[in-house]
Amino acid sequence: METNTNLDLLQSGLINDEIKTVAINCLQWGDTGKGKIIDMLSDWADIVARGTGGDNAGHTVWYGNNKYVSHLIPCGNPAKTNVMGSGMVINPKSLFDEIEAAKMNNIVHKDLMLALNAALILPFHLVQDNLSEISAGKQKIGTTGRGIAWAYADQVNRSGLFVNHLLNKDFLAKKLRDNYETKKSFFASFDPQLIRAILDSMRLEGGLYWDEKNLFNLDAIIEKYYLYGQELKDLICDTDKFIKQNVGFKKIAIEGAQGLGLSNKYGTYPYVTSSDCSPYGSAEGIGLNYSQVDLSLGVIKAYVTRVGHGPFPTEMGGDFSENWCNNLSINRAKEMLILKGDDPSEQYHSFDQDFLFGMKLRMIGDEYGATTGRPRRVGWLDLPLLRYAMNFGVKDLVMTKLDVLNDCDFIRICNAYHYSGCSYNYGNRSLGYGDIFRETIMNYDVIKDCKPVYIDLPGWKTDISECRKSSDLPQNLLNFLGFVSRQTGARIRVISTGFRRENVIFA
Ligand code: GDP
Ligand code: IMO
Ligand code: MG
Repeated sequence: METNTNLDLLQSGLINDEIKTVAINCLQWGDTGKGKIIDMLSDWADIVARGTGGDNAGHTVWYGNNKYVSHLIPCGNPAKTNVMGSGMVINPKSLFDEIEAAKMNNIVHKDLMLALNAALILPFHLVQDNLSEISAGKQKIGTTGRGIAWAYADQVNRSGLFVNHLLNKDFLAKKLRDNYETKKSFFASFDPQLIRAILDSMRLEGGLYWDEKNLFNLDAIIEKYYLYGQELKDLICDTDKFIKQNVGFKKIAIEGAQGLGLSNKYGTYPYVTSSDCSPYGSAEGIGLNYSQVDLSLGVIKAYVTRVGHGPFPTEMGGDFSENWCNNLSINRAKEMLILKGDDPSEQYHSFDQDFLFGMKLRMIGDEYGATTGRPRRVGWLDLPLLRYAMNFGVKDLVMTKLDVLNDCDFIRICNAYHYSGCSYNYGNRSLGYGDIFRETIMNYDVIKDCKPVYIDLPGWKTDISECRKSSDLPQNLLNFLGFVSRQTGARIRVISTGFRRENVIFA
């Protein structure tokens, strides 16, 4: 796992002795390669800490030839301190399984900490998530089905449980029963057999929590959750206090989860996750204030992806692509056949060229969800979104997956939006059809009617996987980076040219 990235990091000037706390956050809709960048930074950091979300996240790291996807455990070097912070929501089964799976792969975390005051995901939450998505029909969000929103909702609603409850069986039992009381009428409005089918999944212990008479077997849940508490008890501690004591002394890397566009405060609400996964929220989720961050790095892809539903102005193939990617029968194998022209059942000849191009990039970039395996919707780089992100005090960028565009004749960039909706009052601004926005207006009513205004730059048409320094890069790629910087004011400090650790260049 040892590489010379630590040295490169220091030599690049990105990090110096003054910098103690670095935040790494996605500025798009997630899956930009945060895992890879955290892994790289964890050679430098003493502590890697995550502050938002739960096992909805999927962060990929490559250790040599082995791929490892973490959902809850931070992607820091396992020999360092890895913290799951108080802003997270924890499914104890998922965490236990993840720790065991890591051990099977010889990844043993030496110092793993779990916030005692992180919210607890209960089996009810997973069932609520699945039921609400089923009943939402066309309005569904396309969640990961992990119960995230419902666990956070209970926390806000003052009926939630926390990780520390796992350690105290009587308190756990009382709180869990009280929590169930608040949900009985919700569950009663659904077909019990539907609930049973959801509870049958392995994620929910293969039916262990089903009760023919009462729907949920509360005793079984309490027993199992207490057992998980016993397995995890050595990790559970006051991580907020630990981070506050170490900030400014130890080197801390904050691992953002999800992305700015998915923040429930600053994203495309209601098509968001249920935490504030902006740079602000990820710092708060580990017990810090964003002003304590010395270097805030924004991670973007050279294009954009999004999983699930929600507005996505630069999506290749538009609504057709959104529906396609959310169709459960579509997967990587099927798309491979289509792209090879081997799928007789599909009318792919009539597919829109833009959509097919997106599918091709999806295949090259392996854009299939690290958590659910769903095809990620693919679109062109969106500069209005990046300009919006600049308001969060992020000036330094990591741009990943440039290699995915190696074969493109041209690189398309959205430089503005054309508003095609009705008259709309946005604070004291009156928006009208035909308006041009250079920066995203983060309001669903507006963004859903924003069409991209594109500019095309020539592609580099070169394999960049062997490039190790800026001067190795093709001129057209440098022109592309220069254009993005000039248009947004962002500095592109690091670029990633492949999924491996060595595929990184400090600008
Ligand atoms: P995260 O959620 O932001 O950590 O990102 P994911 O792990 O969900 O998705 C990013 C995917 O892109 C992973 O499969 C990474 O291994 C891969 N990846 C990261 N950087 C690069 C890159 O520069 N080029 C390519 N081709 N793949 C990359
Ligand atoms: P990482 O950290 C991409 C999306 C889901 C869905 C919405 C709400 O790997 O970048 P939820 O289950 O959170 O209630 O779903 O949020 N979503 C993500 N999309 N990457 C993620 O995490 C995501 N976490 C949640 O697809 O649209
Ligand atoms: Mg991911």
